[in-house]
Amino acid sequence: MRMRRRNNLAPRMEACESVWIHEPEALRGSWRSLMPGCRELRVEVGCGKGKFTVETAEAEPDVLLIAIERVQDALVLAMEAAIRKGLKNVFFVSLDAANIDQFFADDEIDLLYINFCDPWPRKKNAKRRLTYHTFLEKYKKVLKLGGQIHFKTDNANLFAWSLPEMESCFLELRNVTDDLHANGPVGIMTGYEEKFYALGTPINRVEAVVVTKTPRPADVKDEGEDNDTPTDDGKEQES
Ligand SMILES: C[S@@+](CC[C@H](N)C(=O)[O-])C[C@H]1O[C@@H](n2cnc3c(N)ncnc32)[C@H](O)[C@@H]1O
Repeated sequence: MRMRRRNNLAPRMEACESVWIHEPEALRGSWRSLMPGCRELRVEVGCGKGKFTVETAEAEPDVLLIAIERVQDALVLAMEAAIRKGLKNVFFVSLDAANIDQFFADDEIDLLYINFCDPWPRKKNAKRRLTYHTFLEKYKKVLKLGGQIHFKTDNANLFAWSLPEMESCFLELRNVTDDLHANGPVGIMTGYEEKFYALGTPINRVEAVVVTKTPRPADVKDEGEDNDTPTDDGKEQES
């Protein structure tokens, strides 16, 4: 579903200067200078309207959280929510997560969240999935050894496709579940998650741990090239 155009987007973005990082490349290797003494540096890719971002930052004030979102009509809402709450430990980047290794240094991040990313079911668009191996290899670079990717999705087929994709990058999978909230709500829910939970759609979640920095071998069969996810119905989801 396309994001609705926000009124007065440019002045509203400008009003969010205090939390909006315009030149993330300049902070490469020194993000912690935004919050000296922070316990962890975490990154969320595709934060959308920022419900999870803001609530996580509020719940863990000693953690520095950087949220990346390429659609400004969504980002502005996330930034406005952070400002309304007076949060000092969350900042926002208006860029494509595909360039994450250009604005974070190797080993800089402790934890990376991927929440309800677009499934891109058609095989020709597999490379756009935020769990495609080219993205995973970049996350692996900027995550420290022992760092983690926490991935949640309502899309069972994207999840089933993503797990071996992660393993092909030598990520160790932990706490895999296909029904996170089976016994009642667990953790902070994102905006999308809340909607799916209300509909009774099971939520899939995995923690993928960086246990080695060894890159994915070049000769691994590229599933994105050869296979659709099983639900491919010819429709494509756009952000
Ligand atoms: C389906 S929405 C989910 C939003 C939010 N994470 C949630 O769970 O409510 C996916 C979001 O990821 C963003 N996104 C998709 N690909 C991206 C990319 N390569 N870089 C940055 N943001 C991206 C989209 O613009 C969209 O806001």
